[in-house]
Amino acid sequence: MAETGKDLQTARTLLRNGELVAVPTETVYGLAGNALHAPSVARIFEVKNRPSFDPLIVHIADFNQLTSYVSHVPNDAERLAKKFWPGPLTLLLRKKDIIPDLVTSGLNTVGIRCPDHPLTQSLLKSLDFPLAAPSANPFGFVSPTTAAHVTEQLGTRIKYVLDGGPCTVGLESTIVGFDQGRTIVHRLGGVSVENLEEIVGPVEVHATSTSNPKAPGQLKNHYSPGKKLFIADLEKAIGMIDINKVGVISFEKNYGALHQAILSPTGDLNEAARNLFAAIRELDKKPVEIIMAELMPEDGLGRAINDRLRRAAAK
Ligand code: TXA
Ligand code: MG
Repeated sequence: MAETGKDLQTARTLLRNGELVAVPTETVYGLAGNALHAPSVARIFEVKNRPSFDPLIVHIADFNQLTSYVSHVPNDAERLAKKFWPGPLTLLLRKKDIIPDLVTSGLNTVGIRCPDHPLTQSLLKSLDFPLAAPSANPFGFVSPTTAAHVTEQLGTRIKYVLDGGPCTVGLESTIVGFDQGRTIVHRLGGVSVENLEEIVGPVEVHATSTSNPKAPGQLKNHYSPGKKLFIADLEKAIGMIDINKVGVISFEKNYGALHQAILSPTGDLNEAARNLFAAIRELDKKPVEIIMAELMPEDGLGRAINDRLRRAAAK
């Protein structure tokens, strides 16, 4: 079983030896390996049971490292990185040859981000290679937002989980690409569309298609819990069902269900984002037949939360 702790030296040694370590970030926990070492990268796909057509994100310590791995940084990319890094923003940029093709599934762009977590920052600063890291869950499942979530699912397959506490954002990074002057959001995530647009003006959002070739991992049925999840107007649904046989996920309202998760009693979308994945996991374990979730307001992180709920419901 994986050991859990805060020992950077252990993490460093394993990574230098080509092994994998689960690492905390502000978004979700990542399953990290040396991004420049093809066997480590191959092991990531194997441990996650991830199809090789689904590329990995590369994590760097700071903006200055970017040009070691990408050949061109458009102006908008630079402005976004300078504003939101370290933070929940991944940029798709033209890769240099030093990044193995396995990392990018053969694409000529690489997803890069600089995570905002003190432990993982220290780790990255002390390594002479960047870390490839997908979310530390088996392919297709809900992403982990605590060390315990990682151990539950991958504990027998890795040696060490670096414990950085619960993730403070709780949703994966926003993925942004650049095409002939256009700025395109490929995955809604921890930086809201409004926040991006404050920096670069209008962006296009291409994150809702069922199988988006630009972000192959964005399959429609991603984030599936074990139990069937439905999106519902809880106000109406509550009167029509046996409320105690259903796991209820609400934004701020208390519907009085026996098994319920109120994502943010104060109506704060950032708090709701932080609580979402843990709530899905928790309700999945309760003696309920299905899970019913209501949609959040479609602004700020509400859009990304709704994206994850829709995917979880699409199983
Ligand atoms: O917040 C996050 O981004 C977390 C933490 C650990 O950093 N990582 C994460 O990785 O969510 P993962 O592998 O679960 O999701 C990465 C997504 C996938 O949908 C993948 O298809 C897409 O990023 N992606 C990666 N590189 C890409 C590329 N070059 N072009 C298009 N999509 C890419
Ligand atoms: Mg993932």
